[in-house]
Amino acid sequence: MPFRPYSVTDYVEDVSPGHGALPPRARYSSSDAASLSLNGTWRFRLSGTADAEDDSFAAAEYDAGGWAEVRVPGHWVLQGHGSPIYTNHLYPFPVDPPRVPTENPTGDHRLVFDLPRDWPGPSDGGAVLRFDGVESCARVWLNGTDLGEFKGSRLPHEFAVGDLLRATGNVLAVRVHQWSAGSYLEDQDQWWLPGIFRDVTLLHRPAGSALDFFVHASYDHRRGTGTLRVDSDVDGRVTVPDLGIDIGTGDEATVPVEPWSAEIPRLYDAVLATEGERVPLRIGFRTVELSDGLIKVNGRAVLFKGVNRHEWHPERGRALDPQTMREDVLLMKRHNVNAVRTSHYPPHPAFLDLCDEYGLWVIDECDLETHGFTEQGWRGNPVDDDRWTPALLDRAARMVERDKNHPCVVVWSLGNEAGTGRGLTAMADWIHHRDPSRPVHYEGDVDCRDTDVYSRMYAGHAEVERIGRGLDGGPARRRELPFILCEYAHAMGNGPGGLADYQRLFERHDRLQGGFVWEWIDHGIAHPELGYAYGGDFGEELHDGNFVCDGLVFPDRRPSPGLVEYKKVIEPVAVAGDGADGTVRITNKYDFADLSALAFTWSYQVDGETVESGGLPVPALAPGESADVKLPQPPPGAPAGEALWTVRAVLAADAPWAPRDHLVAWGQIRVTERRVPYVAATARPVRDDGVLTLGPGTFDARTGALTAIGGVAVSAPRLDVWRATTDNDDGAAWQSDVRYGPLWRKLGLHRMRHRLDGVLADEDALTVRTRVAPAARELGLATVYRWTSDGGRLRLTVSVGPEGDWQVPLPRLGVRFGLPAADRVRWFGGGPGEAYPDTRSAAAIGRWRSTVDDLQTPYVRPQENGARVDVRWVELGGLRIEGDPEFLLTVRRWTGEHLDAAAHRTDLTPGDQVWVNLDHAQHGIGSQSCGPGPLPQYHLHAEPAEFSFVFTPAPGTV
Ligand code: GAL
Repeated sequence: MPFRPYSVTDYVEDVSPGHGALPPRARYSSSDAASLSLNGTWRFRLSGTADAEDDSFAAAEYDAGGWAEVRVPGHWVLQGHGSPIYTNHLYPFPVDPPRVPTENPTGDHRLVFDLPRDWPGPSDGGAVLRFDGVESCARVWLNGTDLGEFKGSRLPHEFAVGDLLRATGNVLAVRVHQWSAGSYLEDQDQWWLPGIFRDVTLLHRPAGSALDFFVHASYDHRRGTGTLRVDSDVDGRVTVPDLGIDIGTGDEATVPVEPWSAEIPRLYDAVLATEGERVPLRIGFRTVELSDGLIKVNGRAVLFKGVNRHEWHPERGRALDPQTMREDVLLMKRHNVNAVRTSHYPPHPAFLDLCDEYGLWVIDECDLETHGFTEQGWRGNPVDDDRWTPALLDRAARMVERDKNHPCVVVWSLGNEAGTGRGLTAMADWIHHRDPSRPVHYEGDVDCRDTDVYSRMYAGHAEVERIGRGLDGGPARRRELPFILCEYAHAMGNGPGGLADYQRLFERHDRLQGGFVWEWIDHGIAHPELGYAYGGDFGEELHDGNFVCDGLVFPDRRPSPGLVEYKKVIEPVAVAGDGADGTVRITNKYDFADLSALAFTWSYQVDGETVESGGLPVPALAPGESADVKLPQPPPGAPAGEALWTVRAVLAADAPWAPRDHLVAWGQIRVTERRVPYVAATARPVRDDGVLTLGPGTFDARTGALTAIGGVAVSAPRLDVWRATTDNDDGAAWQSDVRYGPLWRKLGLHRMRHRLDGVLADEDALTVRTRVAPAARELGLATVYRWTSDGGRLRLTVSVGPEGDWQVPLPRLGVRFGLPAADRVRWFGGGPGEAYPDTRSAAAIGRWRSTVDDLQTPYVRPQENGARVDVRWVELGGLRIEGDPEFLLTVRRWTGEHLDAAAHRTDLTPGDQVWVNLDHAQHGIGSQSCGPGPLPQYHLHAEPAEFSFVFTPAPGTV
């Protein structure tokens, strides 16, 4: 007599993949077989446990009229029923596999549907009911018949339903449990979001139609030929009109073809005709192989400039619509991204169609992660427990069979962060056997026993360089394999820093075949009060805060500065030169494409103003080739000043992913140096009734504090060394290296005190001596402000001398002051976007305009942001400020302290002043929120420093 009374839901805790579903097969849509989308509004009832309700709702006569409604595809927790939970790797339930909590939110879904009038009758074949994704476990009834149940949330499941269908009044009932044995295999770092979140479709299967077929389309780069063979379980013919191919299934044809690559995604329309139906195919010929220790496609080594993509939409979660998927692909292509790892599960199938069409290399990853077992030293890990192996193999098969006909898929990945074990070996063996045409990836296989590529995440630059040089040792098999960073450059908040430094390594060492930035999009959830919600905002008892917002695009898909930086760093054309010899060196960094799709232009700028521009003839260089291209003579009569060339590579004609003139790559070449501003100290300080005047400046005579410049009242510039710590400053708790954010706070750099030591007005200067230091510490910064003027302009020179034992870098070093008002901002320097010492590749020197509001970068969790680098001068709020040397500019309507205290953007409200930071330097950004901190060359050491600013009243710039 079993003790447990819950037999009706035993399947929930069953380690098997399920019962009743059809075997996995290729995903395709036939051109003539009927199909019916069952997406739409379904009836919905939520219960707190798996067994709260019996299955009477599956019966035709059941009246669900009183139930709520949900949108399918969708997650009920995003539609007002319960709430989402975010954990990185912790299971939000006790780890006792395969048992799950009694509190198991269970959503009963019910849809009544009619068949279209022309739906074929039973004599014309069968029908299948397809679920493209249900989290995490579903049991399905059609017209009262129990079809079975399944797990494997981001994988398709089909049921044969032909003999159950009726013309009208079909009742489809689906019971979905949030937690199941499958949840142990789905511990990816993301929101837990139950529901029927991908399409539900009824497909007619005409008699004589193929169940499954496998398109083998390889490319022989030596001969320029493609070989096509389509294996199918039923006989048929395959025709490719453009290639004159007309062969039987199982037969082979070899003809000259244009190959498929992510750069030139040539697809051929084809048809597989069986007795039962015509299946349109899009065939891309390409061969992936490991040779010379490299992943080669069509005979050439590829460099992955990739991103990790979770499926995300701020309102709909992982229920993505076709436009959103297309937007992702277009955004990636427009930002020079050439590869996607589908972290950490096979994506909606339509996404792969888009990757085939627009051209992206794909690492297709299986829906598998058991990361939470790390908490107990991986004890009980399902991937090392034979009872789970059928479920693992089922997942591998559902991915491979569904996606095998996509040319974009060049690597299979077993999953993510699942430790090691026999189950993974079994998956790898099965995949190698079923599809020997693609390498197998799994980062957790550090010795590469089961895998074909050495893959790591977040390795620092020095280690990556060692690996690139082959100095990393390790097992013999691994030493022969190519290397990728399946995750690097953690794009959480401000950052990632250090991208350019990685890219230089990738380009220098053949073995390094690139990487995939973690990750594509912030998973913020649109929230009426908070803007975007993150972990903890729904009252979760366990959560990982904003670690879920670590993407290159914001939740609304606006590119973050990180994406703009990445675009520049991975641009496929290098523009270089020193300006002295009048030539520019152009290098084609594509792996496959020549430069014929690009048009080049030059422009000659003096002090940021374009004097003249024109077209630059550049030969259609082959991949890897360079040419020195002559620039025109500098325009005669160009004004004197700081001159530079800007060379741009743009699309010469409309491409499927961007219009003509879309900027692909650029570079700037300096011609003449900047002249720094000189202010002769000719004006005298004049004291009158507690007020001291020096040129346009008015000061408090007692404290030496500046109170106005011209007519503009200001709050005095003071040394500022604090920045609202970034996620990368704070670092992840598990980081073993020094995390400066917490250290800075411990030192008290966020609460520096300013002691006035002396004010001296002499012949030609006002000098104010101070010491800036935190309470409780002996270290400090001796800071001297020296003001001079030529009558019209006011020059401030700040000298900083560290005192005491400064073992830590400073967050920033500069001055901050307040303006009563400012809106428009104009500057000459780096722009248009945010940049920091190790995120500054995309900052182009020019004249830029913005508003104070638009200078802010909307990181989901507020933090230091918005700096512009290399600023020569800025005009705002009735002032013009020039730097000697160039400076970093930050302008905001709140102080750094307010920014620091905010948890969401909605916590930031404009104060009565606009705060301007003029920084001599800032500390680098790095990516220590999961990866390495800033490289040493980007540290801002506490050292003696001197820097100046020249202030001039400039009415009309508010
Ligand atoms: C990796 C993991 C990702 C994500 C990332 C941090 O370890 O594979 O899923 O958690 O770290 O954001």
